Amino acid sequence: MKVVAVINQKGGVGKTTTTTNLCHALAEVGYKVTAIDFDPQGQLAISLGIITQDIGGIDEVMLAKKTVLQQVIRVRHNLALVPAGPRLKDIEQLLAAGQPKGMVLKTALGSYFADQDFVFIDCPGGTAQRHGVKNRLRKLFCRSGFCLYRLPAIIRIFNC
Ligand SMILES: Nc1ncnc2c1ncn2[C@@H]1O[C@H](COP(=O)(O)OP(=O)(O)OP(=O)(O)O)[C@@H](O)[C@H]1O
Ligand SMILES: [Mg+2]
Repeated sequence: MKVVAVINQKGGVGKTTTTTNLCHALAEVGYKVTAIDFDPQGQLAISLGIITQDIGGIDEVMLAKKTVLQQVIRVRHNLALVPAGPRLKDIEQLLAAGQPKGMVLKTALGSYFADQDFVFIDCPGGTAQRHGVKNRLRKLFCRSGFCLYRLPAIIRIFNC
């Protein structure tokens, strides 16, 4: 199982678009993929066809109200989604003081997705520095500009 966090300090540089397309393509060729919408805007869910915004998701998992498997939505063959949930935007206030939300997410995910080939995390802007995302994750930096520039990094990650 490979976990890929799609990150960048900036907003609007194609993180969600990249996540959506890579998840779709990998599922299409037969990999089992779970996509986690870790951005309170909830646009990854919308991109995958889930337009209801008031359903709980990874927010309730991080708050220990639900297990992550309870929050999984099958969106198409081989592709599952964990939506953001309405409380993700307030998660820093809702968690105990000093808990980096990256670490809370890691603990909450545990080994639930061991049967998946890929878990993608679509992050909000600024995730790497602010939330303790460390080296054990594969990090895919999206940049504005000429997208083919990032192809070697993408190929390295998916050369499994
Ligand atoms: N390769 C691309 N070429 C042209 N437009 C693109 C490309 N990738 C994304 N876009 C467009 O750029 C806009 C921002 O994309 P996207 O929402 O994926 O960025 P984001 O980094 O996830 O933004 P946010 O930080 O707000 O979550 C969207 O309108 C999207 O359709
Ligand atoms: Mg986005």
